[in-house]
Amino acid sequence: MGKICVIGGGGYVGLTTGACFADLGNDVVCVDIDEAKIAGLKRGKLPIYEPGLQELVERNAKMERLSFTTSYDQGLKNAEFAFIAVDTPSGSEGEADLKYVRIAAQTIAERMSGSVIIVNKSTVPIGTGDWVAEIVQEHIKPDLVFSVVSNPEFLREGSAINDFLHPDRIVLGSTDRQAAEKVAQLYLSLRAPIIVTDLRTAEMIKYASNAYLANRISFINEIASICEQLGADIKEVTVGMGYDKRIGHAYLDAGVGWGGSCFPKDVKALAHMAAIHGRNPQLLRAVIEINRDQRRRVVQSLRELLGTLHTKTVAVLGLAFKPNTDDMREAPAVEIIHLLKNEGASIKTFDPVAMERAGEILTGVTYCEDAYEAAEGSDALVIVTDWNEFKHLDMARIRESMAQAVLIDGRNIYEPKLMQDLGFVYRGIGRGYDTSGPGQSAEVLNAGQLEESEIAGDEAP
Ligand code: UDX
Repeated sequence: MGKICVIGGGGYVGLTTGACFADLGNDVVCVDIDEAKIAGLKRGKLPIYEPGLQELVERNAKMERLSFTTSYDQGLKNAEFAFIAVDTPSGSEGEADLKYVRIAAQTIAERMSGSVIIVNKSTVPIGTGDWVAEIVQEHIKPDLVFSVVSNPEFLREGSAINDFLHPDRIVLGSTDRQAAEKVAQLYLSLRAPIIVTDLRTAEMIKYASNAYLANRISFINEIASICEQLGADIKEVTVGMGYDKRIGHAYLDAGVGWGGSCFPKDVKALAHMAAIHGRNPQLLRAVIEINRDQRRRVVQSLRELLGTLHTKTVAVLGLAFKPNTDDMREAPAVEIIHLLKNEGASIKTFDPVAMERAGEILTGVTYCEDAYEAAEGSDALVIVTDWNEFKHLDMARIRESMAQAVLIDGRNIYEPKLMQDLGFVYRGIGRGYDTSGPGQSAEVLNAGQLEESEIAGDEAP
């Protein structure tokens, strides 16, 4: 097994990658310039919340396969691979800011003591691999050699470890086939298809994949908006669409839109790259605009149902950009709460995990102990994040405790008819079917069931 150094190893991607590679039997050193993060990690305190990661880090640190340092020298000593997994924040035009990649590349070049394969995991603009190679070439000691491989990550927060250990595919891009094959060896035991291609193509696979997924969600949100006007139910529409093998069921949940550390940044960066290279990325721009509208429409619905928002109290359930994470980056809740506050509403909120992090960016809101406390005395309840625990609330109790029973279900986790029967004024996203009817969810009948019901019909008097 090779020795791996992960630069940015205290970050989300770096730490997950490092811990998983260690678990596969490699000797891994995570390097990070953030001293507080490294000091915490040495004591077993993780800077992020990710299910299963704490155990994985503890186990591998104990087995001495995983260690943490702020020293490049220590990390790169005898390293065969140097993974770059640093932040690439968005600049003002949506372009990826590569200052941390530059520092990582230059420092690797200056500190490496033997030949190293530099593997880039960060999502970087197309052409960055070539640029990294130039930087390294400029700063490397004369007798050393290196290769650059692009190996984009496709990890989702909340299921990162599972995604790492059970990937749909591994993408490797390089001008050096042998180097790509060496990196492929690290992943061999995962038994996933490995795509070996050139650097730029590998970099584009990452952008195109994320942009496509964001596009699917914005597409379905646009269809949801049309459903609302035309009396169709988006939840059933997507069930019907998803059975088409060419479409599939994943990433078709309508809601308040996509957020997080990847989709917003990557779609904007891809649009920016297209624009500066003379293309007109109309679809990508629409994907972004539709996503913004999803947040605005929540506020618009509340305005329609409550009249003015001034002096009204709105309970917001869920702050994280999605369940099972405390990540607040580009979380729909942030914009929704800002818009509501601008219109004079008071906010009570609850999130099972993200309140501490939310507190750093959202002030002037009341953080509650649980969903019930948030709902009590409120004029409206808005579900923003589809945490499992919000799917099993005692909604009758909530209804009783509210000043007005307006429910905006931003993730379609409740059945409209049931909520209306409880006395809520209910609005989901794209749930426009006739609510006077039975309100069943889409049913998939198989041939056996149909035959039985025909026989039953024959016997009827
Ligand atoms: C994403 C990619 O999935 C991953 O491959 C990449 O490496 C990083 O970006 P992540 O940001 O963790 O992962 O979130 P993901 O689970 O993909 O969800 C993104 C956003 O889309 C969330 O805000 C989620 O609520 C939203 N979403 C997802 C929908 O609104 N509808 C859906 O059907 C699916």
